[in-house]
Amino acid sequence: MSSFFSRNLKRVYPIIASGTGVFVKDTHGNIYLDGSSGAITANLGHGLNEINGAIEKQLSQIAFAHTSQFVSKPALDLAEKLITLAPTNFQNGGRAYFVSGGSEAIETAMKLARSYFVEQSKLTKSLFISRWNSYHGSTFGAMSVTGHPARRKPYISMLKEQPHINAAYAYRCLCNNQTSNSCQSEECTLARANELEQMILKQGPENVIAFIGEPIVGAALGAAVPGKNYWQRIREICNKYDVLLIADEVMTGLGRCGANFALDLWQVQADIIAVGKGLSSGYMPLGAVLASKKIVTIFEEGTGVFEHGFTYSGQPLACAAGLAAVNYTLKNNLIQQVAKREQEFFANLYELANKHEIIGDVRGRGFLAGLEFVKNKSTKEPFPIETKLNQLIAKQAFAFGLITYPGSAFIDGGLGDHIMIAPPFTISDSEIEELFKRLDKTLTQICNTFNVKTPASISH
Ligand SMILES: Cc1ncc(COP(=O)(O)O)c(C=O)c1O
Repeated sequence: MSSFFSRNLKRVYPIIASGTGVFVKDTHGNIYLDGSSGAITANLGHGLNEINGAIEKQLSQIAFAHTSQFVSKPALDLAEKLITLAPTNFQNGGRAYFVSGGSEAIETAMKLARSYFVEQSKLTKSLFISRWNSYHGSTFGAMSVTGHPARRKPYISMLKEQPHINAAYAYRCLCNNQTSNSCQSEECTLARANELEQMILKQGPENVIAFIGEPIVGAALGAAVPGKNYWQRIREICNKYDVLLIADEVMTGLGRCGANFALDLWQVQADIIAVGKGLSSGYMPLGAVLASKKIVTIFEEGTGVFEHGFTYSGQPLACAAGLAAVNYTLKNNLIQQVAKREQEFFANLYELANKHEIIGDVRGRGFLAGLEFVKNKSTKEPFPIETKLNQLIAKQAFAFGLITYPGSAFIDGGLGDHIMIAPPFTISDSEIEELFKRLDKTLTQICNTFNVKTPASISH
């Protein structure tokens, strides 16, 4: 019996002991290859001396200072660095607000967006439009815009109802196009984006604060990438109706998708960007909200006050870890490296998809990949909910020494299984080979369990 309140009290979790690079070790000496950077967080791998050293150095000076009394050098330097990495509309005037994680970043982004309009006396604006099949965090504001029915269900009566539109989900496009594996139609892409305009008009533009979305949907849809002109169209609609665009880049930001921020892949500029996870690569709890110049100017010319704050906002130790992580990423050109290695990384996944009948779709960008599993590849029929296939796969992979990130319930709020593969950017070629060897072994075992024939086993 443990006093620790774990995520699932009926499950026994191994105790983590140490980690180096892409490998972590438990107290029984089992070694795992971290194929998902934990929860797409440890983007630089484990045990980096550069980051440990920066934390130790800051610790030897001061660990804590409250932002109502002081700012700290690591916070100032990290803010400057993040704004430099952000799109041009953040330059010469944008600012970074630090928090302790992704959910806090989303709460902060939402309050900042509301305050931006309060400063302008546009007080009727109080709604956020978001999408189904999305995840924005565990706190109440973040949950109200999250579009994952299973995660919202126990708390639904306590949530403020925010309008949701459909996700851009090419593999199961609403047009039901059976001829292609993943719908790439321009018409469908624009139809999904235009749902935003319809929803703004339905709610009344004077009532809508912002559209919030993950540029590439993470855990709620397994790295689903929208069509080519989706984000461009979303930006146009936001501009037309004085609605802000908030990019939730908690999972996708800071290089994970092979660009500074995933929206850069489409040359689209958000008004507010939320980051977390990879910002400190997991070395300290840290998140941030980047406010573009347009947002900051309204405050600077208005009251100057953003009525918000957490005790641990901008904690010097966390910011020192974040600064060291960003510096390490830049010094080693890791974002460019991820972009350069993307094609080869995905080639491994396509090879697995050709071999294993249960892989219905491979999607993602950079080092953020999702595999969606199906019972029948041609009809795209999913496995029954009771099978909990995503968990079985993750469990089997774990037993074979591979950490993956499973997800479910993205079809009609209940069905659907995926896993995400998202290794640290620092993974070597031979470690990637080992990752896919272990994943192949896992899927072979799962296919045997369900008696699914792989094309290879049919031909022998
Ligand atoms: C896109 C996205 N937004 C927000 C969050 C919430 O972040 P956190 O778990 O750090 O609170 C997550 C976490 O998975 C996420 O993936």
